[in-house]
Amino acid sequence: MSEQFYSDARLYDRLFPGGEQSVDFYRTEAGRQGGCVLELGSGTGKKLIPIASDGHPCVGLELSPDMLAEAQRKADERGVKVQWVLGDMREFDLGRTFDLVFIAANSLLHLQKAEDLVACFRSVRKHLAPGARLIFDVFNPSVRMLAQADGVRRRRDALSFVDPDRGVVHVDVAETYDAAAQVTRGRWYFSTDSEADFSVAPLEMRNIFPQELPLLLTLGGLRIVERFGDWSRAPLTADAALQLYVCAPD
Ligand SMILES: C[S@@+](CC[C@H](N)C(=O)[O-])C[C@H]1O[C@@H](n2cnc3c(N)ncnc32)[C@H](O)[C@@H]1O
Repeated sequence: MSEQFYSDARLYDRLFPGGEQSVDFYRTEAGRQGGCVLELGSGTGKKLIPIASDGHPCVGLELSPDMLAEAQRKADERGVKVQWVLGDMREFDLGRTFDLVFIAANSLLHLQKAEDLVACFRSVRKHLAPGARLIFDVFNPSVRMLAQADGVRRRRDALSFVDPDRGVVHVDVAETYDAAAQVTRGRWYFSTDSEADFSVAPLEMRNIFPQELPLLLTLGGLRIVERFGDWSRAPLTADAALQLYVCAPD
């Protein structure tokens, strides 16, 4: 359950700024495909707003009303038109097709059960126009990091950020790994020097190991066209932090 984590969209954007390489990657792919673009789990529109500003008709489907409202606010501020839809990527019917569907920044890892992942891929399949692609990125699980998930709360200095209203915000995370479910269960604590734990939110992420994906995609009516291990399109190797997939209908 991670809904609470996405209930403060401005905090989310301050926690995770940047991501220029991934924005450039998806922007390039949208240009290569041409036509209409759908993002599932579109968040605050970090990728979709730049793609729409390039002239692509864009739809963003998102589960969190707060993230959707912030995306709408940012698009309006930039004068960019995007159709924002409240919905669940596990099952959706937009009644039309797209030239590119993408799922960025680990959004897919919020689907924990294999049947949810397959249902999502099946819904995507129905929304692909001839020649269209599904592209998504998820992290490549590190068994070393999973083994270290001992439930102890630790400060993540690299994640500290400045909130204009609160000042410097420190981030602590406590994580355990449920090996049967392949789910990392985290608890994120946000504090300032004057206000300890002003926000505490659970965040759960499925770990999808590389050999699972061909099977899950096949069950969803899709096949892998290309697979990369970083944003420069290097091959997916054992030590790659990222899994990046380009898929087409089977
Ligand atoms: C890590 S954020 C990524 C946001 C955006 N794609 C980006 O690149 O910045 C994951 C997003 O997926 C959304 N999400 C989680 N489960 C979802 C679901 N079942 N259907 C649609 N969106 C979902 C969350 O609300 C959140 O906005």
